[in-house]
Amino acid sequence: MRTRPLKVALLGCGVVGSEVARIMTTHADDLAARIGAPVELAGIAVRRPDRVRRGVPAELITTDATALVKRGDIDVVVEVIGGIEPVRTLITTAFEHGASVVSANKALLAADGATLHAAAAEHGVDLYYEAAVAGAIPLIRPLRESLAGDKVNRVLGIVNGTTNFILDRMDSTGAGYSEALDEATALGYAEADPTADVEGFDAAAKAAILAGIAFHTRVTIGDVHREGLTEVTAADIASAQQMGCTVKLLAICERSANGQSVTARVHPAMIPLTHPLASVREAYNAVFVEADAAGQLMFYGPGAGGAPTASAVLGDLVAACRNKLANTTGVGESAYTQLPVSPMGEVVTRYHINLDVADKPGVLAQVATVFAEHGVSIDTVRQQGKDHYSGAVDASVEGAGSPMPKARGGRRAGGDAILVVVTHRAPDAALSATVEALRKLDTVRGVASIMRVEGE
Ligand code: HSE
Repeated sequence: MRTRPLKVALLGCGVVGSEVARIMTTHADDLAARIGAPVELAGIAVRRPDRVRRGVPAELITTDATALVKRGDIDVVVEVIGGIEPVRTLITTAFEHGASVVSANKALLAADGATLHAAAAEHGVDLYYEAAVAGAIPLIRPLRESLAGDKVNRVLGIVNGTTNFILDRMDSTGAGYSEALDEATALGYAEADPTADVEGFDAAAKAAILAGIAFHTRVTIGDVHREGLTEVTAADIASAQQMGCTVKLLAICERSANGQSVTARVHPAMIPLTHPLASVREAYNAVFVEADAAGQLMFYGPGAGGAPTASAVLGDLVAACRNKLANTTGVGESAYTQLPVSPMGEVVTRYHINLDVADKPGVLAQVATVFAEHGVSIDTVRQQGKDHYSGAVDASVEGAGSPMPKARGGRRAGGDAILVVVTHRAPDAALSATVEALRKLDTVRGVASIMRVEGE
């Protein structure tokens, strides 16, 4: 074994960074044996140097991250700061000075992964980011390496633990969204500002990264259709339960039917209780991958937290160090297919729609005609008295940028029944047009909720 150590710079020493530092110290002998040389923590850049960090050598702390990555003797930079700038500049500077980079930064990778990959390739170093998607769960490397000989067609994942916790509580206790969010906050799952999680930004960044790797193309967060879960109601969850389903915030990346494009989206969806993702409880993550030869695979585990995320970081660190010793690099970006990303309107899936209607002769026929006129085939229709259904009349699955018309109308006087329509597979644009037309019918008092049905 080489005795001269490989030098590691750590950018950020919060929840994840301090676990990385701790494991590097406590597992130093094993890491050295696995790598073939000792690894030494050469410096730790932080914003607040006075903060007490137990087990972290104080002499390694600096506030000058730029000087650290420019030292010239750093073999691997571990970035666990997050955000776009100054991190992008720090990473490219590290590359310029010969260091490989291990990052947990989903926002940066989803916004500008191509630039970073190109810079790493130009300087003959590695860029690894297993920790950016789904915490401890091995996902990037299996998609990039283990499945490199297969053709991935679909990735369907629960990639945000906070929202899964909220939906799980709503499902198991009947709680509304706000109540479940309060519980998630009290237990430390949701942050003080939960926007990134509950509006789906976090999951959308992960979806972009997964889609790019799975389909060997480039997908950025701007390509991902995004709807959060803030408008999911207890009544939506009850509707799902009546269908033998549960509601999950899913990241869905698919090849189109003709194979000429891909789609990436994040939104709440009903999935059958028989689907493996339905059993993912609390704040766990899971990603279901469908590939030509492999069939169906599921990756499951903790998607966040200091030690689980550090586990993924350390795995990348070992890989980057081994490559450094061998004077080589690992697999870089593979984007040769250059498949375009289709808009949400072209996504084909099933829908569950609750309509608040007048209960009189001909209404069902009118509603069915609107579906037929837009080429949306109905699978099942169920009518129930309004007492069956409470509280969801203003509910909607619409989020920012959604082409799906917002459910609205409320429970007006004179609405007598709820029609629950489940469609066969149809393009999202056709469903949106159907809903617009339904709202114009006098006999339709309101569109109480619309939810996509996945995983069947
Ligand atoms: N906030 C994320 C989650 C973890 O709740 O899953 C970091 O991506």
